[in-house]
Amino acid sequence: MSADASRALVLAIETSCDDTCAAVVDWQGHVRSNVISSQGVHERFGGVVPEIASRHHMQLVNVIVAAALQQASVTLDEISLVAVTQGPGLIGALLVGLSTAKALAAARRLPLAAVDHLQGHVAANFLQALEPGKSGVLEPPFLCLIASGGHTLLAAVRDHDGFEVLGRTLDDAAGEAFDKGARMLGLGFPGGPALQRLAEAGDPRAFAFPGSAEHPRAGRRGALHDSLDFSFAGLKTSLLYKLKELGEARSGERAADLAASYQAAIVESLMVRVERALERSGLEHLAVGGGVAANGELRRRLAELGAAVHVPPAVLCTDNAAMIASAARFGAQLEYPAYLTLDAYATGERAM
Ligand code: KG4
Ligand code: ZN
Repeated sequence: MSADASRALVLAIETSCDDTCAAVVDWQGHVRSNVISSQGVHERFGGVVPEIASRHHMQLVNVIVAAALQQASVTLDEISLVAVTQGPGLIGALLVGLSTAKALAAARRLPLAAVDHLQGHVAANFLQALEPGKSGVLEPPFLCLIASGGHTLLAAVRDHDGFEVLGRTLDDAAGEAFDKGARMLGLGFPGGPALQRLAEAGDPRAFAFPGSAEHPRAGRRGALHDSLDFSFAGLKTSLLYKLKELGEARSGERAADLAASYQAAIVESLMVRVERALERSGLEHLAVGGGVAANGELRRRLAELGAAVHVPPAVLCTDNAAMIASAARFGAQLEYPAYLTLDAYATGERAM
């Protein structure tokens, strides 16, 4: 990289799921451009179809990269580092981004930073505010909750270049629980916003779900167990049984009650572990990321927490490439041609 790192610009690509993303970010964390193309094609299947996602990334990625450069008013000549999501995610989708990044970097003999997607979500908190007056960079240490369609993670962030996993989901992700619940209730995909809308008219105390404060075996302070790991699969099964029991009576008011109670149980499950983790770690700041951070009920409950809560703007919470560029500023860089042999990883964590 150029000797004058303060003027360095990072071009980042993120294609781990169904969003084709590219961004330009400077070394101080100012977002110069952040282009996201969401693939609406998956809606009709009720979930992301990996093969279709890869094909769309291939069609879109060059256009999105060109748009990111153009919106930042720069050319590839002014880029000092190419960053890309290496994993975890859909392997075919990741490979499209990784190959594109390798080709761009190799063509200019630029260094390349391979970024872990979850480290990217954490590093969204290290970006400068998108608008003047809005909250910007959050410095470690803090507790970070990432709740999206693919991940649910509680991490202690003590440095800029890593995190300690305190808890993660043992089965479905929180967003996936929203999506699957919405599907059972006959709502669209992605299910989170639709389920939230239906829940607004319902009573969150109408039905008891495992993990919810209303459930007889629950206990706000964790009588059930005191792990920091999450589990949402039981909730989904419970919703299925409730729907079966209700039969014809499952629509209208009862559907709203079900949605409200189901949502409350997901949020409760997140909040109990967040509170527990804050207590145990002694951390005083909480950052929240991932698509579920948009949930109104979760936000209401977060506002009641004693801790200082930092939620980046929605475009930086959901999948985006600016967060990948942000992480790249603090991680390792590979020089040409070392990165040409890099492979993507679908699951599992890199040591961090
Ligand atoms: O971070 P994200 O955009 O990316 C993926 O994981 O792909 O998260 C999407 C997830 C979906 O599961 C969606 O249903 C959920 O976030 N989500 C919400 C809300 N908005 C999005 N869940 C609950 N309430 C919302 N308002
Ligand atoms: Zn994500």
